[in-house]
Amino acid sequence: MSALLGEGKTKLVIEAGEERVLLRFKDTITAGDGVKMDILRGKGEVNARTSAVLFSKLMEAGIRSHYISQYDERTLLVRKLQMIPVEVVVRNVATGSIVKRLPIKEGEIFDPPIVEFFLKDDRLHDPLLNADHLRYLKLMSPEETEDVRRQALTINKVLKNVFEPKGLRLYDFKVEFGRTGSSLLLGDELTLDGMRVRVNGTGEVLDKDLYRRGETLERVMEAYLRFLKVLSS
Ligand code: CDP
Repeated sequence: MSALLGEGKTKLVIEAGEERVLLRFKDTITAGDGVKMDILRGKGEVNARTSAVLFSKLMEAGIRSHYISQYDERTLLVRKLQMIPVEVVVRNVATGSIVKRLPIKEGEIFDPPIVEFFLKDDRLHDPLLNADHLRYLKLMSPEETEDVRRQALTINKVLKNVFEPKGLRLYDFKVEFGRTGSSLLLGDELTLDGMRVRVNGTGEVLDKDLYRRGETLERVMEAYLRFLKVLSS
């Protein structure tokens, strides 16, 4: 029996040796800091696969991450990291929290993209952090913040290059990083739970905003499956 190292809202972390862990994707879907939660049958498998495909694309483009391989249908084998409880968001098009927080209108284009940091803390509703907060809270040094910012922007470029030829537009996404030795490595997942992807032209939503807006679970699943199919084609 392997030891359960942790459990989040959508994943289990299981011991797999000294330097490796398994990430098992659950069928849960949540929104609003976990206040809204449902079971979406098959979502774990779709998100494990989506993450595996996207981490592989990053790897092909020379971006390192914790990803090693897909272990089974809903599980990834990854390098063990000391995760930093910070959500790094990259935005290409304005939507979501930024249009509520700042005098920015839905749909405004950010060129260059905007990078934001949030404390991963549902109780505090993931507050926005600047580099001074990150340093003061001992989350990241100024050098690490700059490194993560640069990595996040490179990830954005690669993902956009993957999506654009497929007729998809990357509005924004969230990534998380962790420590291994002295370097910071991309961890966590890359799925529609944490990125906004729209069909170019029609603006059709393929991501978790469908769930946030109260669409049926069936529609959410259809969108997630369609995205994975387009990605894999
Ligand atoms: O999702 P919400 O409008 O609350 O927040 P946001 O800051 O506009 O989210 C920006 C991007 O980060 C979106 O793609 C979200 O799906 C993602 N995100 C996430 O994965 N986890 C969070 N706790 C917050 C945002």
